[in-house]
Amino acid sequence: MENNTEAPRKKRVLSMSQSTGMFTLGNYLGALKNHVALQDEYECFYALADLHAITVRQDPAEFRKNTRNVYAMLMAVGLDPEKCVLFIQSMVPEHAQLAWILNCYTQFGELSRMTQFKDKSARHADNINAGLFTYPCLMAADILLYNADYVPVGHDQKQHVELARDIAERFNNLYSPTFTVPEVMFGKAGARVMSLQDPTKKMSKSDENMSGTILLTDTPEEIMKKFKRAKTDSGSEIRRGEDKPGINNLIDIYSGVTGKSYEEIEREFEGKGYGDFKTAVGEAVVAELRPVQEKYAQLQKDKAYLENCWHEAAPKAEAVARRTLQKVMRKVGYLA
Ligand code: TYM
Repeated sequence: MENNTEAPRKKRVLSMSQSTGMFTLGNYLGALKNHVALQDEYECFYALADLHAITVRQDPAEFRKNTRNVYAMLMAVGLDPEKCVLFIQSMVPEHAQLAWILNCYTQFGELSRMTQFKDKSARHADNINAGLFTYPCLMAADILLYNADYVPVGHDQKQHVELARDIAERFNNLYSPTFTVPEVMFGKAGARVMSLQDPTKKMSKSDENMSGTILLTDTPEEIMKKFKRAKTDSGSEIRRGEDKPGINNLIDIYSGVTGKSYEEIEREFEGKGYGDFKTAVGEAVVAELRPVQEKYAQLQKDKAYLENCWHEAAPKAEAVARRTLQKVMRKVGYLA
C-alpha cells in the first residue's frame, strides 16, 4: 500500500539580490521584507547574485568586502539560515552552466526588448558587454534550476521573470515538461519605491544623487534629513492622486513599513501638512531599521559564523540545482 502520510511538498520560492553596494529601502520594501515573511510558509531559496554583479565593472577588494557585508545584511533583515537556504550564486556552478544552455533558447530580439538592458547600456556606454545583454538568461537559470513556483521581486524585475516563464514554456514544449513555470509575486506595498528627489525614477543604489536614496546603513540623522528634503507635489493634502508621484511614493513607503492601508494613512493625516507627514515617514523608517542595524553590527563582528552559513548553504542549493541541470542535459542530448 502507498504511504499517504507524507506531507505535500511546500510551494517553492526563489529570489536573489545583486551583491553590489548596500541595499536600499527599495530593495527592502520591494523584496527583502517579503522574503522574510515567506520563510515559514514556503520552501525558500534566497541568494546573492554575485555572477550578475560583474556585468558592471567591480573593484575586486571592494567587491569581496561588499559581498560579505550584504550577506550579513540579508541575515540582519531577518532571513534565517535555519528556515531558508541562503546562498551565494557563484558557489553553485550550475547557474552558469544552465545559463549557457538557456542562452541558446532565447532570441536576440527578446533580450533587446529588456528595459533594464536599455537603461544600463545607456548608463554604461563604455562597457556594454555580452553579459549585460544575456543577463536575463542567467536570471532565468537561477529561477528554473530550483523549479520555483513563486519569485517575489520588485516591479522592475517583472519583465525578467516573464522572460523566464517564456523560456521555461519553450523548453517544456520542445522536449517534455521539465521546468516549473514560475509566477512573479509582489508585496502589498513597496513594489515600486521611487527616488525621494525624483519620484518618477526608481530608488536605486547607483543613483548619482544619493539624497534620493535611503540605504539600510544610513544613520537616523541621514534618514530624517533625506525624508525632510523629499520632493513633494503641489497641494498640501496627504492624499494619493494620479498627478502626485511624490506623495504617492511617501504614502507607499509608510504603508510598506507600518502595514497600514492607504485609507488608514489618509485618515491619520487628515488636516496635517507635508512637513508633518515627512517627519512621520522618516521616524517610521528609522524605527523599522533600528533593530536591523543593531543585528547587522553584531553579525559583522562574527565573520566565522557568516562564512559557516554560506558554506553550509551552497551544497544544499547545489543538490537541487544539479538534479535539474542533469535532467536538462539529458533532454538536450548530452552524454553527461
Ligand atoms: P536587484 O539586486 O536590483 O534588486 C533586488 C530586489 O530588490 C527589488 N528592488 C526594488 N523594489 C522596489 N522598489 C525599488 N526601488 C527597488 N529596487 C530594487 C528588485 O525588484 C529585486 O527584487 N536581477 C535581479 C537579481 C536577480 C534575481 C534572480 C531576482 C538575479 N537572479 C532570480 C529574482 C530571481 C536584480 O538585479 O535585483
